[in-house]
Parts: sequence; C-alpha cells; structure tokens
Amino acid sequence: MAGNWKLNPATRNEALTLLKLLAANFVNHRDSSSTGAPECVIFPPLPYVADAVRILEGTGIQVGAQNAGSNEKGAFTGEIAPSMLLSSGCSYVLLGHSERRTLFGETDGQINAALHKCLDQPGLKVILCIGETLAEYEAGMLESVVNTQIQGGLAGVDASALLSDRVIIAYEPVWAIGTGLVATPAQAQAAHVAVRTSLSSLYGSDEVASSVRIQYGGSVTPESIEQLMDEQDVDGALVGGASLNADSFARIFDGAMSADSRKKASY
Ligand code: PGA
Repeated sequence: MAGNWKLNPATRNEALTLLKLLAANFVNHRDSSSTGAPECVIFPPLPYVADAVRILEGTGIQVGAQNAGSNEKGAFTGEIAPSMLLSSGCSYVLLGHSERRTLFGETDGQINAALHKCLDQPGLKVILCIGETLAEYEAGMLESVVNTQIQGGLAGVDASALLSDRVIIAYEPVWAIGTGLVATPAQAQAAHVAVRTSLSSLYGSDEVASSVRIQYGGSVTPESIEQLMDEQDVDGALVGGASLNADSFARIFDGAMSADSRKKASY
C-alpha cells in the first residue's frame, strides 16, 4: 500500500501534522510490520523525507521518493541520485509516474536509466508506474501501451531484480488519476493480466510474471479498495489524493489488509 503525496502539502508544518497523525494511526490501531500484513510506504516531497523517516520510525510505514535521476554525482543541478535517497532513509523510489511522463516529458529511456541506477543501490526498491491515457484506452491500445512502457522501462533489467521483489509495477490508467473515475475492478484485473502477459513475453518466464507485485492506482478510496484488491491480480494500490488524509489512508490500509487475508485464506 503506497501513498503518493505528489506536490503536497504546501508547508512543512502541515506535513509534520499529517506525519504525526499517520504515525498515531498506525501505532495505535495497526501493525503493518507484523508478519503477513501488507507493506506500507509513503512518498512525501523530498524536503519532508527526513521528517517522515524520523516520525514514522517504528510504525512500520516506510518512506520513499517520488522520483530519482540517473546520475550518481557531479554537475547536474537540480538532480537527485538514488544513493542520496537510500542514505537519507528512503527504501522505495517511484519512477515513471504519468505526471512525470506527460508534464515533464520523461521518456521510457530516461526512466529505464534511473531504474538501473536505483537497482545499483542495494536496499532500494522501485515502483515503476505505467498506464494508458483515455484516448489510448478508447482506441483499444491498453495492451500495446502497457507493453511499450514495460519493455522500455525494464530494458536490460535482469529477471533476478523482479524475482527478488526489487521492482513493483503500478498500473495507473491516466484517465483515473485524480479524476474520481476509478477503474472498475474488472477493468483493473484485465489490465493487470495484460501487464503479466507483457512481463511473461519480455522475460520468457511465467514465474517472473506471476511473482511481480502489481498495484492499481487512480482515484482509490476507502470505499473502492476492497473490491479492487479482491481481484486476483491486484496486489496493492498506489494512492494519491486519499493518502493526504491520515484517516482515509489508514482505512484504505485496513481494506487492503482484509482483502489480502481473504485472498490468502482462499488459496
Ligand atoms: P489519485 O492519484 O489517487 O489522486 O488518483 C494516484 C496517483 O497518481 O498515484
């Protein structure tokens, strides 16, 4: 279960309030570090990472960064290196979010270069975000878009990185992000199958395809999480707007935990 804060909240004081509420919720009511409970990670803006690491210590909530560059150090003003993130307490990095792709022009090649650099840092995991736009969805291009982004994003990445859980895929249809238009559970399931099919052909391995965790993202709420996660191939969620409210994020986590234990019981 991941919470992407995006460019929010506007001030450090507001971030501190949200972090303390999250810590209180998870310490008092949940134990995401207990065996078998879903993993939980939040992605605050970089200036709040140190506060997040400090305040969330011992809660079971991990901290990640919303992006990383592909250079290690040197004259690259404004860039952030994966080693900086790891050594600042981040255990996850989001790469290829659709807002990075559409608003900031990031290409599959750039995302792939950053992914390789992240994997060079033992202890850092990557959530690779992919997903089609509404026009692409309506044109029946979901499979081909997913395939292109998987192949481009994972080019040259060894199967062992996926088998060892260093790479997680977040399927986020662009038309569902921040719009309130959540994909139906059936739509999410069909897309996740397309992701596994693409992984299977890229790696020539059903084992890779079936072991990779695939999150759904796009307008997830406490009301929609359980039905989404009841789908066989929906392993988690990447939550944007609803992760900015400590209570709704905790309720989403609870919903994911219920769905997860139902799934485990049915195996
Ligand atoms: P949303 O964002 O939940 O606000 O739609 C999801 C995301 O962009 O990761």
